[in-house]
Amino acid sequence: HMDGELPAGGDHLGGSFGDAPTLESWYPQRLRVELLHRNGIDADPLGADFDYAAAFATIDLDELKREITTLLTTSVDWWPADYGNYGPQMVRMAWHAAGTYRIADGRGGAGTAMQRFAPIGSWWDNGNTDKSRRLLQPIKRKYGNALSWADLMVLTGNCSLELMGLPTYGFGGGRLDAWEPDDGTWWGPEVWDPHQAHQGDDMVSRDERWTGQNGDADYDLQSPLAASHQALIYVNPEGPYANGDPMGSARDIRITFTRMAMNDEETVALIAGGHAFGKSHGQVPAADIGPSPELAPIESMGLGWHNPVGTGNGQYTSTNGIEGSWTPNPTQWDNTYLENLFTYDFEQTTSPAGALQWTPTDPDAPKTPDAHVPGQMNPLMMMTSDIALKVDPAYREVCERFLADFDLFTLAFSKAWYKLTHRDMGPKHRYLGPEVTIADDLLWQDPLPEAEGAPLDASDVAALQLATLATGQSVSDLVFTAFSAASTYRDSDKRGGANGGRLALAPQKDWAVNRRTVPVVAALRQVQADFTRTSGKQVSLADLIVLGGCAAVEQAARAAGTETTVPFTPGRVDTTQELTDVEMFEWLRPVADGFRNFLSPRFAEFAPGVAPESVFLDKANLLTLTAPEWTVLTAGLRSLGANWDGSDTGVLTDRVGVLSTDWFVHLTDTDLDWTPDDESETTFTGRTKATGEARFTATRHDLLFGSNAQLRSIVDAYAGADGQERFIRDFVRVWDKVMMLDRFDVKGHRRYG
Ligand code: HEM
Repeated sequence: HMDGELPAGGDHLGGSFGDAPTLESWYPQRLRVELLHRNGIDADPLGADFDYAAAFATIDLDELKREITTLLTTSVDWWPADYGNYGPQMVRMAWHAAGTYRIADGRGGAGTAMQRFAPIGSWWDNGNTDKSRRLLQPIKRKYGNALSWADLMVLTGNCSLELMGLPTYGFGGGRLDAWEPDDGTWWGPEVWDPHQAHQGDDMVSRDERWTGQNGDADYDLQSPLAASHQALIYVNPEGPYANGDPMGSARDIRITFTRMAMNDEETVALIAGGHAFGKSHGQVPAADIGPSPELAPIESMGLGWHNPVGTGNGQYTSTNGIEGSWTPNPTQWDNTYLENLFTYDFEQTTSPAGALQWTPTDPDAPKTPDAHVPGQMNPLMMMTSDIALKVDPAYREVCERFLADFDLFTLAFSKAWYKLTHRDMGPKHRYLGPEVTIADDLLWQDPLPEAEGAPLDASDVAALQLATLATGQSVSDLVFTAFSAASTYRDSDKRGGANGGRLALAPQKDWAVNRRTVPVVAALRQVQADFTRTSGKQVSLADLIVLGGCAAVEQAARAAGTETTVPFTPGRVDTTQELTDVEMFEWLRPVADGFRNFLSPRFAEFAPGVAPESVFLDKANLLTLTAPEWTVLTAGLRSLGANWDGSDTGVLTDRVGVLSTDWFVHLTDTDLDWTPDDESETTFTGRTKATGEARFTATRHDLLFGSNAQLRSIVDAYAGADGQERFIRDFVRVWDKVMMLDRFDVKGHRRYG
């Protein structure tokens, strides 16, 4: 509808609220504070008390797997199984669920079954995964809420692989479904066409996310994106720009799979392993296929991509547009994908749907049976992205090892599959079910050792609190250190957090933003040693770091005249440098951190065109904070002097170390005028109106809370005469929340709190 139309148009706009694009279209640069309130309890029919772990524990996993396996080989008329086996399409569904994962912000992945929602579920690349999920509905119905969609999808992928002969590396349950689309993830520019013909969109969606030319040294993909094109999970199977260039495709594969945390060996294992199964579907041109699920008419009941040709399924199926199978036995785990790829030469041909693909030049090359027509044999197929594995020297070397040693390939694939599908689950405490013990500790799981010795009791905690305060480290330093440890957490892939004591290990101990923690950690190590000497008990450094912060917050509340208890839950453990993947932890290093008023000097280079406050909002989102929590936490950290460099920027109080509401009051003080210090508009000075005297300095991370109307309203709620008690209560709450974000060992599988 037209811009400017009232959003309450009801009947003629097609819904009681009409379309409401006005905020987005009028103020595209506005800070989307409402992102912090997505996927909350109001969207969740199961409510706050629902305990997924307890529900999942009622399932007999072996029985469930048998039922899934039976379903896989029971073809139904509305979507007949290729080769009488739904395994391959389920493997693709699970791979696409997990394959959206990316290391830069930890978003994507199989963890919340986002494939059910827009935009992901309607991406061209997810064509017909709607059918795969719908086929699973009887299982979902039988197990109800004891089995999340997210777990069901991954488990079905595993059952499929096992049915077809691959020994998997096991399955861990514990994925909690989301209940609405995730608006907070930047997937790159989304270009929509009712038919989703990605070839047509190629130019637009590629050019906006890449710099340089494929093959040049400066060729790179915008961070945090990991897919080469809009609406694809990874790369275009027909090569960059659908140009059929295998070497160019290899470059895209390496960039995108690296962003999925996969090295060359894992990448080859996944692609060669996955394409040992199933086929590509390309009988009907994309332009003739109906709209995706999100755009389909209401009576389609959530299914999309209606195919008008023949029965619209089975032998007529068109999904990606490429046609054919890679191997003579597409429902059997074997090494024929690599054997065929390396034995034969392939030439470019065109599928019935018009897609570019590759066919063996040798007419005597093996044929593959048709998926539906009995007795019909078809030529083998390779995609440009498959030929890539042969032409790229490093991929080729891996292929040759796998060709020579099928057992090596088998283990590499099952381990890479396990990583792919579990990568975003966080610590192993979150894995559920009897198969978890099958798998040992893997480096990508950021392993934590088991806690040893007697747990701390209340008197230990009290003694340690006094001891940390007696180190002579300031309230500011103790708070800063605890927060620095805990705030690496990101809820997207549940990595980071204070547990493990990794603040004291590389790479975190070497980050500039953590410099202030070094002497604090040294002092706490002394407390740790003294405690063991005098009590004979153990306390982890991880616990002490948090404990010191809690003691300091209590002290700061006391200084403001309020006696309060800051909750402390012991039980953290210290891990080792060997169990810490330094390269992967580097991804948790902030380029900006508003909480600690940090802005990397290279921020503009890392995040061109992005305002620091957007990164701050994103950080709050990854910490699962609400807008009030975000505001209160920032105010508290400023009041306590927790800037990374110890400066007083944004510390809008003369009483540093006191949990007062000064910050709120001064931020909204009408007697202050704020002006930028220079053209970069990153730092500001607040001057008294009457005299022009410089009173405070601040960054965008601070002024944001006074300039944004939504945040300013929250500031008002604490700046008032009645704000003090509320502030202390809410600060203590959010402090504890942040300290506990990674404590799945005690929190279990409840979504909230
Ligand atoms: C099918 C592309 C990696 C597993 C397909 C199809 C395409 C494709 C275009 C055909 C879809 C259709 O028309 O039905 C790619 C590309 C990859 C890649 C470009 C990366 C460079 C993987 C990986 C796996 C996998 C890593 C699993 C580990 C499968 C399976 C099928 C399939 C099992 C067959 C689905 C069926 O029979 O219905 N792939 N894929 N693929 N892919 Fe991939």
